[in-house]
Amino acid sequence: MHGNVTRPPGRTSSGLVELDRMLHGGFLVGDSILVAGPTGTGKTLLSTQFVAAGVARGETAVIAVFEEQPGRYLERARSLGIDLAKMIADGRVRILYLRPVDLSVDETLHAILALVAEVRAERVVIDFLSGFELAVAPSFREDFRESLYRTIATLTATGITVMMTVEVLQSFTDLRFSPHEISFLADNLIIQRYVEMEGQIRRVLAVLKMRGSAHDNHLRLYTIASDGINIGPSLEGYRGILTGIPGRVVKRAKR
Ligand SMILES: Nc1ncnc2c1ncn2[C@@H]1O[C@H](COP(=O)(O)OP(=O)(O)O)[C@@H](O)[C@H]1O
Ligand SMILES: [Mg+2]
Repeated sequence: MHGNVTRPPGRTSSGLVELDRMLHGGFLVGDSILVAGPTGTGKTLLSTQFVAAGVARGETAVIAVFEEQPGRYLERARSLGIDLAKMIADGRVRILYLRPVDLSVDETLHAILALVAEVRAERVVIDFLSGFELAVAPSFREDFRESLYRTIATLTATGITVMMTVEVLQSFTDLRFSPHEISFLADNLIIQRYVEMEGQIRRVLAVLKMRGSAHDNHLRLYTIASDGINIGPSLEGYRGILTGIPGRVVKRAKR
């Protein structure tokens, strides 16, 4: 899962060799990353592989999970050969299970910061952001964003690399956050989505944005198997991929 890639200084592994290539060597240490996609595309898997890559390098990590059963979370990781339970037992990983109904936004974000400080985490995952936002009363949404921006800024300012996931219906335009807010919130944006090709539902991902670095602009097919996310070829030769129903580009013979 983590090969011997020579990494440029200041870069850190995403947890996926091929994604590191797309990122021209990995994430920049201390950056924030937003992973957006519909349910089941593998956002949680990606963030789990991101955590495992840190632990493999001797780092510690905090995972904040919203509205998912602890058992289910650990079980999913285990089915991919990632022994989160052992990482927790070894003190490398701490998971914070949050039910927004129990705490206010500020209390929640404060709990994350406190745990990060306690274990001196180098990687932080905030999984399923939209669940959190949905639980916030509309009149408090603005405050929520403010608090979230501040929390992310506080974390990244100390060199912590932060990955957040957000659930969207299908397309990028379904994101509840506007593109402006996204660029404010995250240095890196990765989108995952479903496409229909030859009667099959397949998954594609792309690096939409990486602040301060060049990156691969291709949409890439990927699969999920018992060894995690496997990024495959780019979808050259297709058009309209982001519509969800791509067609082949027909090359016309020159006259
Ligand atoms: N061991 C596994 N082998 C194959 N596919 C798996 C395995 N574990 C999970 N998946 C696939 O991963 C998907 C769930 O990924 P997840 O990260 O929970 O998605 P998201 O967080 O985007 O909702 C499921 O749709 C399932 O098909
Ligand atoms: Mg998830």
